[in-house]
Amino acid sequence: MKHITLNNNIKIPAIGYGVWQIEENIEQCVLAALECGYRHIDTASAYGNEAGVGKAIKESGIPRKELFITTKLWNDDMRADRTKEAFEESLERLGLDYVDLYLTHWPVKNKYIKSYLEMEKLYERGLIKAIGVSNCLQHHLDDLLEKCGIVPAVNQIQIHPRWNQAAFIQYCLNKGIAVEAYSPLGNGNLIGDTEIEEIARLYNRSTAQIIIRWHLQRGVIVLPKSATLTRIRENINVFNFTLKEEHMERINQMNDDTCYGGHPDTFTF
Ligand SMILES: NC(=O)c1ccc[n+]([C@@H]2O[C@H](COP(=O)([O-])OP(=O)(O)OC[C@H]3O[C@@H](n4cnc5c(N)ncnc54)[C@H](OP(=O)(O)O)[C@@H]3O)[C@@H](O)[C@H]2O)c1
Repeated sequence: MKHITLNNNIKIPAIGYGVWQIEENIEQCVLAALECGYRHIDTASAYGNEAGVGKAIKESGIPRKELFITTKLWNDDMRADRTKEAFEESLERLGLDYVDLYLTHWPVKNKYIKSYLEMEKLYERGLIKAIGVSNCLQHHLDDLLEKCGIVPAVNQIQIHPRWNQAAFIQYCLNKGIAVEAYSPLGNGNLIGDTEIEEIARLYNRSTAQIIIRWHLQRGVIVLPKSATLTRIRENINVFNFTLKEEHMERINQMNDDTCYGGHPDTFTF
């Protein structure tokens, strides 16, 4: 596994197992992922599966220090000014005494900066190894950077070949903020893409593997989700080939700023 060093020297595995929309079989899926070699899990209180993630971690017997666990503060908790309480509830559900990364889930107007400042206090107490944000556009980050004491370690945003965020990734990296790609396969929509399939045939790889490799070669942390054992395994088996520059460029050219799901400036949840 490749690692990326965050702005406070914490190392994060470059592939994380995303668990959004995995519910009843969460424990089994996380255990399978850990067996396949994933050491980074991306959950959120809003996913309703922190307890299952926690059970799988415990059952795996893998030493806590070898795992990187991310969870997120939900929008309603920001609106209700209950950052500390919501964080403690997440810890309790996960059965952990710290998390590796805690993120504000969406930039709730007039709230996410206040919540982030509360997260700074939890970070100072050692309950979180790194703090960051999710779904922030440049203007959200600029507002935050003016007021925060700790530069976010991460901005987790939607990135895939049809919304490649090239300029914004560079902007974040220049500020010392690592970038995580959520919905890296376009929430599954890019799996049958003919352009990527053509490249996949050249490497004798699946489309998912080509896309995940494209993310890694751009210096982005990538969070593929699958609830299917064969795909969970396939998605981490991407460290023994390299995409040529011409194929990276062909995938870069697919960008048309397609957003699958909520947009950071217009979400209402
Ligand atoms: N911060 C945020 O607001 C936010 C928002 C969205 C997502 N996320 C994070 O990002 C993670 C991933 O995003 P996502 O769940 O939207 O989408 P994704 O990872 O882009 O795509 C998941 C979809 O692709 C399918 N898939 C996965 N691997 C495959 C493969 N090798 N071959 C064929 N199909 C494959 C999955 O099907 P099966 O499961 O049926 O195999 C599922 O339908 C989430 O789980 C979550 O951790 C964060």
